[in-house]
Formats: sequence, C-alpha cells, structure tokens
Amino acid sequence: MAKVVVTNRIPQEGIEALQAEHDVTVWDHEECISREKCLELIAGADAVLTLLTEKVDDEFLDAAGEQLKVVANVAVGYNNIDVAACEKRGIVATNTPKVLTETTADTAFGLMLMVTRRFGEGERVIRSKTPWQWGMFYMLGMGLQGKTIGIVGAGQIGIAMARRAKVFGMEVIYTDAYEMDASVEQELGAKKVELDELLSQADVVSLHCPLIPAGQEGSTHHLIDAEALKKMKPTAYLVNSARGPIIDEAALVEALTSGQIAGAGLDVFENEPTVHEGLLDLDNVVLLPHLGSATVETRTAMAELAARNALAVLAGKTPETPVTKI
Ligand code: GLV
Repeated sequence: MAKVVVTNRIPQEGIEALQAEHDVTVWDHEECISREKCLELIAGADAVLTLLTEKVDDEFLDAAGEQLKVVANVAVGYNNIDVAACEKRGIVATNTPKVLTETTADTAFGLMLMVTRRFGEGERVIRSKTPWQWGMFYMLGMGLQGKTIGIVGAGQIGIAMARRAKVFGMEVIYTDAYEMDASVEQELGAKKVELDELLSQADVVSLHCPLIPAGQEGSTHHLIDAEALKKMKPTAYLVNSARGPIIDEAALVEALTSGQIAGAGLDVFENEPTVHEGLLDLDNVVLLPHLGSATVETRTAMAELAARNALAVLAGKTPETPVTKI
C-alpha cells in the first residue's frame, strides 16, 4: 500500500477510488490548508493530490521526500506546479483537462452575457432596493448577434466557448501558437489572427490561454496590459475565465474607469482571493469567485480523473493526462 495525501476536500468518488488500493490521508476541512500544515502532511507521501491553491515547488517536493512519484493536480491549469522541478526529480505531474471543458466554457459564456447585457448591474439595482422602472432606454446593453468574439487561446475550452458564440450568431477570430484543427476551424468559420488584430477587431475578447509565468518562454503573464487594452475598441468587453495574472488588473481598472473599454467579466483575479478594490466600485464589471468548473458533475469527474492518474503512476503505468514529459 502506498501513502496518498489529498491536500484538500475533493468529491468522495475520488477518495474512494484511492482508498480501494492505498492508505489515504485527506485534509478534511472547509478552509484551504496552510503551507506549513501542507508540508507536514505530505511528508512520506508516494502520491499527492493537489488543488490549484497548493504551490508545488522544490520546497514542496523536498518536504514530501524522495519516494514521491506523482503529483495529481485536481485542476486543468497547472501554473501552481513547477513542472521542470518535477521532471528533474522524475516525478510525474498530471492535470484534469477535458472533463471541465464544457463547464468552464459555460462560465465564460455566462460572464459574457452578464456583462454585455448588464445583468449583474441590473441584479444589483434590485437587491440594493434602488427605485427602477421599465424604460425604452433603461439599462441597454450590447447584443451579441453579428458581433465578433476574439478567442485568446484556442485549446479545448477556447473552442467550446467559440462553439457557443457561433450558436449565438457571433463571428469567431482567434489567436494561438497553433492552428485549430481544420475541420473545427471550418465548422466555426473561425479565422486565426495576430493578437493585435484580435484586440482591435473583437467586440468581446475572451481569454482561454494557460498562465505561463513571467520570464518563461511564451509567457502570458500580463498579456493583457495597458498597451493591449489600448488596442481594444471602447465598445469592447473583456472576459477572463483562465487565470488572473494574464491581465494586469491595475491597468484593467484604469481602462474600465476611463472608458477605454466597455466592461469586463472576471472569474479569476491576479491575487486570489483578493480582488482589486478598484473593480469593486465599477458597475461595468461582473465578478465571480473562481467558479469556472464548479458543478457537482464536473468536480466529481475531476476528482475521479486525478485519482485515476495517481493510481496509474503508483501501478507503474502511464497516466491519462500527464503534464510532465513521460
Ligand atoms: C480551474 O481553474 C482549473 O484550472 O481547473
């Protein structure tokens, strides 16, 4: 029996799959585990299931010990994991793609609808008991039909978002290091453009790229900075369901305040769970507390996939969704 540590609560299905074969310790509390407790808990583990709130770096790997074989992240994004450090030690790291694609695209689409149609703002009017009345010109938003969506990062979630946008009658442009599959590009009528062109043409810019830290090749840290925001139309909206640090949040507050862009829908933030104070005062912003993959079905599937990945590595097999080179 191997020692498996799960650094936070995850759906029971994932825990049970692990328990059927191994000795499992779970940090079974509502709040996130502290760094100190986490480093204590993982000592001697052969496998660790992590959430995106755990930083998996040399300190973490040292604390676990030399027997550690696998870090199974219960998230698709793995910017919390130092992949090179894992590879150097021969540790396999895995993530949970595919199972959360549709749910996360739903979140991005919801943000787009909420901000362009001012649904968040409208809801706040009612809740604050502000007097209101139906009016021909009351709280008009922007219709999506015939508008252009610019998908930044045409991976699985970006494509799922583009599919939704197409059904709503939007034109799709995208930017990515890779071409979309030709049949998908054709199905969506999507056109690949450079980022600058996308920023200047899109009515809605939706971010779906991974967060690649500053200083690394292809870094996406602050990809949307003051300069990028200046390239957007004053009538355009920005949606982020990827990772907070892709946007320079201070520059975004400035652009939203000055009318440089029309609005933003954000599910992720630069310093989660802290949200830039400037965003809280703005009506043209919709803010969600990182709910991208937050459905019962999807979180269950994520836990099951992470468990299968850990079990595969412990059994000497190749996991389904590795992020380290195998
Ligand atoms: C959530 O943000 C994830 O990366 O799965």
